[in-house]
Amino acid sequence: MLWSMAGATTQTAGRGTTVAGVSLHGVCKSYGEVAVVHGVDLEVADHEFVVFVGPSGCGKSTLLRMIAGLEDITSGKIAIDGRVVNELDPKDRDVAMVFQDYALYPHMTVFENMAFSLRYRGVAKSEIHRRVDHAARILDIDLLAARMPRQLSGGQRQRVAIARALVNRPSIILADEPTGNLDSKTGNEIMALLDKLHAQGNTIFVVTHEHDIALHAWRVVHIRDGKVERDEQIR
Ligand SMILES: Nc1ncnc2c1ncn2[C@@H]1O[C@H](COP(=O)(O)OP(=O)(O)OP(=O)(O)O)[C@@H](O)[C@H]1O
Ligand SMILES: [Mg+2]
Repeated sequence: MLWSMAGATTQTAGRGTTVAGVSLHGVCKSYGEVAVVHGVDLEVADHEFVVFVGPSGCGKSTLLRMIAGLEDITSGKIAIDGRVVNELDPKDRDVAMVFQDYALYPHMTVFENMAFSLRYRGVAKSEIHRRVDHAARILDIDLLAARMPRQLSGGQRQRVAIARALVNRPSIILADEPTGNLDSKTGNEIMALLDKLHAQGNTIFVVTHEHDIALHAWRVVHIRDGKVERDEQIR
């Protein structure tokens, strides 16, 4: 099973048996005096595919970033895999985040981009090659390893960004408008890849503005003014 050893915290066996659910209890976020997220409660089970939709500025990215640990929460509780992660570093949360603008290191090759975090963590060279090759094959970018990001199309860059997230074997993938800079055909290809990762056992969160992208989800959570307005199970 592909991600059976996923992340730093999940020590369980195959698909369906990992426990990488995400719970938000009364989560609030303020920037200084300005409150932007107002008490969000959400239970997401292991292996769900959730999309956040809602008007610009309603707090979608902030929610995702708080789950990832890139943003502190002001009050409330976030638990991953049953464990409160409020104080936990992003790298210890069993999550990986993918961004709209790919956020690749421009001066590194595709291979180096994918290997970077593993090198940083002192993973053995042979294991780095194994994981990078594996992720590159899943994302169908194995022939691009020597290219620089500027030599790739937007769709290819996003594939590299997702592959780079996968080498750490996260249980949970958080993607903030991953198709936002792509045409609709390429965007749908990226979503099909996320569908594939979902089928292989990952829990997926995607933020999107686009209706056809939201149709990939199994559950659509509508956010408005920093609150959950509607929670829709669609499959
Ligand atoms: N670092 C910050 N400092 C102050 N205010 C912020 C900061 N980041 C976000 N905000 C505010 O928080 C609110 C929610 O922002 P957020 O980026 O989560 O919205 P969003 O739903 O992702 O919007 P969009 O669809 O346009 O990406 C906005 O009013 C935004 O201006
Ligand atoms: Mg946003």
